[in-house]
Amino acid sequence: MSAKKSQSSGVTGRDSFTSSFGVLVALAGSAVGLGNLWRFPYLVGENGGAAFIFIYIVFVFILCLPIMYSEFIIGRRSQKNVFGAFKVLAPGSKWGIVGIFSVLSALCILSFYSVVGGWSIEYLAKAITFDFTRGSEANLDTMFGDFVSSPIKPLVWHVVFLLLTALVVIAGIKKGIERYTKMMMPLLFLMIIVIAVRSVTLEGAKEGITYLFKPDFSKVTFDTLLSALGQAFFSLSIGCGTIMTYASYVSKSENIVKMSALTAVADTTFAIIAGCAIMPAVFAFGISPGEGPGLVFITLPKIFAQMPLGGILAIVFFFILLIAALTSSISLLEVVVAYLKEEFKMKRTTAVIIGSSIFLVTGCLASLSMGVLSDVKIFGKTFFDLFDTLSSDFFLTTCGLLVVLFVGWRLGKANVMDELTNSGTLKLPKWFTEMTFFIIRFVAPATILVIMIFG
Ligand code: TRP
Repeated sequence: MSAKKSQSSGVTGRDSFTSSFGVLVALAGSAVGLGNLWRFPYLVGENGGAAFIFIYIVFVFILCLPIMYSEFIIGRRSQKNVFGAFKVLAPGSKWGIVGIFSVLSALCILSFYSVVGGWSIEYLAKAITFDFTRGSEANLDTMFGDFVSSPIKPLVWHVVFLLLTALVVIAGIKKGIERYTKMMMPLLFLMIIVIAVRSVTLEGAKEGITYLFKPDFSKVTFDTLLSALGQAFFSLSIGCGTIMTYASYVSKSENIVKMSALTAVADTTFAIIAGCAIMPAVFAFGISPGEGPGLVFITLPKIFAQMPLGGILAIVFFFILLIAALTSSISLLEVVVAYLKEEFKMKRTTAVIIGSSIFLVTGCLASLSMGVLSDVKIFGKTFFDLFDTLSSDFFLTTCGLLVVLFVGWRLGKANVMDELTNSGTLKLPKWFTEMTFFIIRFVAPATILVIMIFG
């Protein structure tokens, strides 16, 4: 990966990334998150091991990459926020709705993401003070439930997490997002590798490795396909305006195809290493694997408590969780900030303050819905679950669908080719560009519709 300098988009005077590496780490930072750590390893194990990984990779590279290019094309061509982009590319049309949906999508995700980000700070603090190794197992069972349902502590950490996010975003693209993700992403990879090495060399790790990698195609059902596709969407951060927003700060000389492919490779590699870090250890200690908050905040602390050097590894792990959540939440806040800043002519600082204040409120609702507000239900769901379900089941897929429809049918082939090849200066094989356009136009919308109907 060359760290060549790209030309900044000086004409528009907009802030921008300064290097290819900067774009890559920012995109990978958005993609690598809770999805890789607490969902992917479990999905793999339960759905046929290597068989699932194979299907997942096919979906990522055949179907999701063209959707990523589509978001990239909209963002980079317009050099605008998710709403403004459509005013430039389709003036006078109603396509701006895609931008509004993207902002809402980002809003729903960050509302629960920042709460979990707060939890990871609390658990990092517990790890640093060796709380897991001191208490009894029964303690560890109730520790998480007691913590999330308490009224004050999770709120305080949520605010701290939002503050950290806001501080990075306030500094802008070059001096904030690029600078900090450049420091955090290599560290993140390094740390997960350390944990994976420890985990696979534990006695009894073999069963976990078998669980993850033994191919079993008999477990592959239609539901497996739906899970693989849903996970690919969520993990690559598709359908929420992040790629569009980041792409709007990317130079016209950058190679969209290469950049998206590298992001997908980084995200998938991280997910597989995370699997190796978590599952072998879970099996080595004879605990049954689970997913989500239970896996990360209950099962893993129990394992760290028993493992040689577990106290130190716990610190590393919760630091990973915090950074993974932070680099994703930065990208989510930027979607909203870019929108407020450009559409309402605000200063960046004002936009960050207003954006974060909105998340402060929605995040508090999500956080309190684990305790005092647990009886308040909308459509039968607590606030936390509502934000999660609304984003995963509705906004991400709807935005993804509208994006490919826009690029495939409204923007049209000539524009897509022009943007993919940087106005003809990049030589891409004809079969490749033709196939990509065909997927954007027909295959992707059809597949997303199938997920929406059956998912
Ligand atoms: N990709 C993130 C993860 O795997 C979650 C996510 C989905 C996301 N859409 C996003 C993060 C948009 C940032 C921006 O956990």
